[in-house]
Amino acid sequence: MKKILTGIKPTGDFTLGNYIGAIKQMVSMQEEYDSYLFVADLHALTIPQDPKELHERLKKFIAMYIACGIDPKKNTIYLQSENEYIPAMSYLLECTTQYGEASRMIQFKEKSKEHSNFSVGLLTYPVLMAADILYCDADYVPVGIDQKQHVELARDIAERFNHRYGDTFVLPEPMISKSGVKIRDLKDPTKKMSKSEENPQGVISMFDTKEDIEKKIMRATTDSDNQIKYDMDHKPGISNLLNIASSITGRTIEELEKEFDGQGYGTFKKYVASITSEHIMKIQEKYQQLLNGKELDQILDEGIQKSRTLAKGKYDLMKQRMGVIR
Ligand code: TYM
Repeated sequence: MKKILTGIKPTGDFTLGNYIGAIKQMVSMQEEYDSYLFVADLHALTIPQDPKELHERLKKFIAMYIACGIDPKKNTIYLQSENEYIPAMSYLLECTTQYGEASRMIQFKEKSKEHSNFSVGLLTYPVLMAADILYCDADYVPVGIDQKQHVELARDIAERFNHRYGDTFVLPEPMISKSGVKIRDLKDPTKKMSKSEENPQGVISMFDTKEDIEKKIMRATTDSDNQIKYDMDHKPGISNLLNIASSITGRTIEELEKEFDGQGYGTFKKYVASITSEHIMKIQEKYQQLLNGKELDQILDEGIQKSRTLAKGKYDLMKQRMGVIR
């Protein structure tokens, strides 16, 4: 059985972008793949975090994964930080990664501009991500388009390691959802919807109330020509809403364009607001039950045990291949 793996960084709220870009894909594939899903809490540390808030987010994210349809029986679910072999592997991989490669990553370039005293962790972040992926020999990595470059780097690092030290890793491939959608900020649809955005009006959190979700969608920035047509270059706001509606309902963009032809933005926004808020409310109901229940700890205990066993095996093999073994 082929393996898929993905993770989300708990740096802020769990966004609609995370759900559509990563989790929905994992849910649709969990029957056919050996699936691994984790909370990338070590990745969150690359940018300063409030320890209490970060801690509180970890279990919330796990509960949200399951509420979104991730089946704990079909997925290995864990916290990245509970697997100490992953950062250990990351160091070995750092020594097979070129400084130039790491510093060319788009996210590194952008984030290092935003933070004047950025950490070394921000630079080595994609190498840690490579360790996340390579330890279990993941074949595919379902991610949003913004993470594609990091998965490709993981593949390049694995290829170099295999070439230098002998076959050690499966070469992973990014898996981008069919439409390759990047959910955009509702207030500034030229930007990605991102949990670190200062303006929360542009970002839908999976923890938002029904009213907030509806308000945010009704107030989303759109152009003034009132035509429901997909055109990301000239009509990014309306195209973004079409992407959201299509991802939530499984209907095609063409079907939606036809149904709302000539009906104006108000009617269409009302539709998107209602299907999105209802969809998220159903997820939240399940989420609340999970958060109050006891099964999360058991799921995490089982997940980490399997993940650590695999990672230890891979770490020992790497050390042996590299000659750092007694
Ligand atoms: P992160 O936490 O920024 O995002 C988690 C996942 O959600 C996707 N995503 C989006 N997709 C569509 N539209 C958006 N607006 C949007 N925003 C986020 C991201 O592409 C991603 O798939 N480094 C990773 C976490 C990570 C990881 C890994 C992922 C750590 N190790 C190993 C895969 C495999 C990150 O920061 O994602």
